[in-house]
Amino acid sequence: MTGRQAPLLSVRDLKVVFPTPIGMVHAVDGVSFDLEAGQSMGIVGESGSGKTVTAKTLMNLLPSYALVDGSVTFDGRDLRSLAAQRKTEKHLWGVEISMVFQDPMTSLNPVKKVGEQIAESLRYHLGQTRTAARRQAGDLLEQVGIPEPGRRLDEYPHQLSGGLRQRVVIAAALACEPRVLIADEPTTSLDVTVQKHILDLLDDLRVARGMAMILVTHDLGVVKGRTDEVMVMYAGLFSQQRHPYTEALIETIPKINSASHTRLVPIPGQPPVTTSPPTGCPFADRCRYATDLCVTQGPPLTPLGNGHHVACHTPVGTPAAAAALAANAARGHTATGLEIHQSGVPIGAVTDGPGEQT
Ligand SMILES: Nc1ncnc2c1ncn2[C@@H]1O[C@H](COP(=O)(O)OP(=O)(O)OP(=O)(O)O)[C@@H](O)[C@H]1O
Ligand code: SF4
Ligand SMILES: [Mg+2]
Repeated sequence: MTGRQAPLLSVRDLKVVFPTPIGMVHAVDGVSFDLEAGQSMGIVGESGSGKTVTAKTLMNLLPSYALVDGSVTFDGRDLRSLAAQRKTEKHLWGVEISMVFQDPMTSLNPVKKVGEQIAESLRYHLGQTRTAARRQAGDLLEQVGIPEPGRRLDEYPHQLSGGLRQRVVIAAALACEPRVLIADEPTTSLDVTVQKHILDLLDDLRVARGMAMILVTHDLGVVKGRTDEVMVMYAGLFSQQRHPYTEALIETIPKINSASHTRLVPIPGQPPVTTSPPTGCPFADRCRYATDLCVTQGPPLTPLGNGHHVACHTPVGTPAAAAALAANAARGHTATGLEIHQSGVPIGAVTDGPGEQT
């Protein structure tokens, strides 16, 4: 065979809209990405940007009233049409594609022993006997670093610490050897030290199993240096490197080598309301590069030539972006009226001291 192999997972122009009493919520608005076998990808974005809805679409977990458009192809199979005949594909979700949810308490049954919860999936999906499934559940607990796995099999979730519970959830998600693991904020409810252990564990398991992984988080620091690719979501859209939102998000992270008392640069304003998305670019009100075109026309997703795409009229680092920034700085505001300094830093983003915003 010649040429490049097709990606394991391919998402194209995915849109998810929820009809609600207050209007149509545009939760995901034209997301496209590819995931190769064994690759790790981070999806980062602030609250409400559509990360979980994207993950749930891949897992076929959206409520039936969700309106979905676009295509999702997994290993050459069209997941959206398979979702319509779920009964015939019961061994795809939870087996080939599996998910770890944010809060282990909501994904574990509080009145069932953890060993049974893992074994259950092995028996249902892989047809294992009770004895074999219990043995494998113990092996899985050991693989995720749970001490005394034999004893833990017979414990209930409330008998375990938060970190151990999340390890159980990971063991359950890995039970059927998925080819893609989606981890949605897997460490948000854990303290920093446990967070690192869990993230390292996920990394090690991914490499050992040759599994692809999507790590979803609101914290750019969690995925930095940990995944092959990072996608940044904003108002249901993906923005990648060279997008002004990604640039602004990176500026919000404290740097370890910055002088003490260095002011952090928050992103001014709020994300748009998903029930009434703006006509132009959804980031325009908060973007230092915004021009008249950004106000009237949404930017198309454009290839950057290195396998990356960007949805922006003037991607960061291009002469057009430099010109737009210089013009905005010279007149003191952008096309949407965001006031900016001569340095190009939005005035709404300047802080007077720790925690203070002007
Ligand atoms: N079942 C639903 N019905 C209506 N709206 C929904 C539903 N699920 C999600 N939404 C809306 O879709 C948008 C995206 O939600 P999503 O849960 O994907 O955000 P998120 O990026 O995961 O945020 P967070 O970081 O807070 O988890 C939000 O505006 C949310 O309120
Ligand atoms: S399209 Fe315009 S407003 Fe949107 S991110 Fe790019 S420069 Fe900023
Ligand atoms: Mg979420």
